[in-house]
Amino acid sequence: MSDNRPIGVFDSGLGGLTVVKELLRLMPAESIVYLGDTARCPYGVRSDDAIRRFALQDARFLMAMDIKMLIVACNTVSSVALDHIRKDVSEIPVIGVVLPGCKAAVLRTAEKKVGVIGTPATIRTEAYARTIASIDKGIKVYGKACPLFVPLAEEGLADSEITRSAAQYYLYELVDTGMDCLILGCTHYPLLMETIQGVVGNSIEVLDSAFWTAKEAQDILGALNAAADGGRDGLGASTFHVTDMTPNFEKSARRFLGSGITRIEKIDLEDLCGEKQEASR
Ligand code: DGL
Repeated sequence: MSDNRPIGVFDSGLGGLTVVKELLRLMPAESIVYLGDTARCPYGVRSDDAIRRFALQDARFLMAMDIKMLIVACNTVSSVALDHIRKDVSEIPVIGVVLPGCKAAVLRTAEKKVGVIGTPATIRTEAYARTIASIDKGIKVYGKACPLFVPLAEEGLADSEITRSAAQYYLYELVDTGMDCLILGCTHYPLLMETIQGVVGNSIEVLDSAFWTAKEAQDILGALNAAADGGRDGLGASTFHVTDMTPNFEKSARRFLGSGITRIEKIDLEDLCGEKQEASR
C-alpha cells in the first residue's frame, strides 16, 4: 500500500525548511506542503498564548490541504503547543521536533548529561528536560537560550567571527557541565552546526533535531504503510506557502533547503481562518 498525499510541515518562518531538506533526503518521493509564517516570525520571543493561537491557525491551514501527516517543524511550537494541536488534529499523525531529538540523545549520552539550546520560549518551557525525564530520569539536562543565533543564521553569518563569539558566549558554561551530547533545539541552528561543533569540541556530539524528526516521520509512514510510490519527484510536487514574501526570502529559503523553491504562494492566514484580528505584536 502507498499513500501519495503530501506531508504537511509548518514553522514560524523558513527555518523548518531544514526539516524539509532532511525529509526529502531520506524520502525523495514524498511531496511536502510547507507553511512558513514569515509575517509573524519569530515566535520564540512571544507569549505562550500567542504561540498557541498562531500554531492552531498554521495547523488548520495545512489540514485543509488533505495531508497524511503533520510535522510541527518548529521547536518553539513543539515545546509550547504540541498537545494543543493534537487536541485539534486527531485524524492523522502529528509529529513535533522535540521527542525525536530527545530519543537520539538518550541513546547516545554515556555521561548522562545532555545540553539543549533553543529560543527563550523553548528553553523556558523545559520541554526537552521533561521529555528526556519521561524516557530516563537519570539524565541531567542543561538548557541555554541562544536568542542571537536565529538572526545570525538568517543573515547568512553562520561561518563568521561574530557567530563564533556568540557561540563562545552562550556555550562555554554548557561545556563546563560535562555534557557529552548537545541538542540543536531550534530549526535555524543546523545552519550553525560547524561553528557550534568547533566551539564545543569534538568530544561533544551535536545532534540535529531536523534529521531525527525526518527519521521518525519515515519510521511512522513505514509502519502505517503510508509512504509515497517510489520514483516520484517529491520536491517537484511540493508546494510552499508563506504569510509574507520577505525581501531576502529566496536567499534564505535556499540557505535552509539547500535548493531553490519554485512553487511558492503568499497567503493570509488570519483571513483564511476567519480570524481577522489584530496580530499580537
Ligand atoms: N522556528 C523557531 C524554532 O525552532 C525559531 C524561530 C522563531 O523564534 O520563530 O524554535
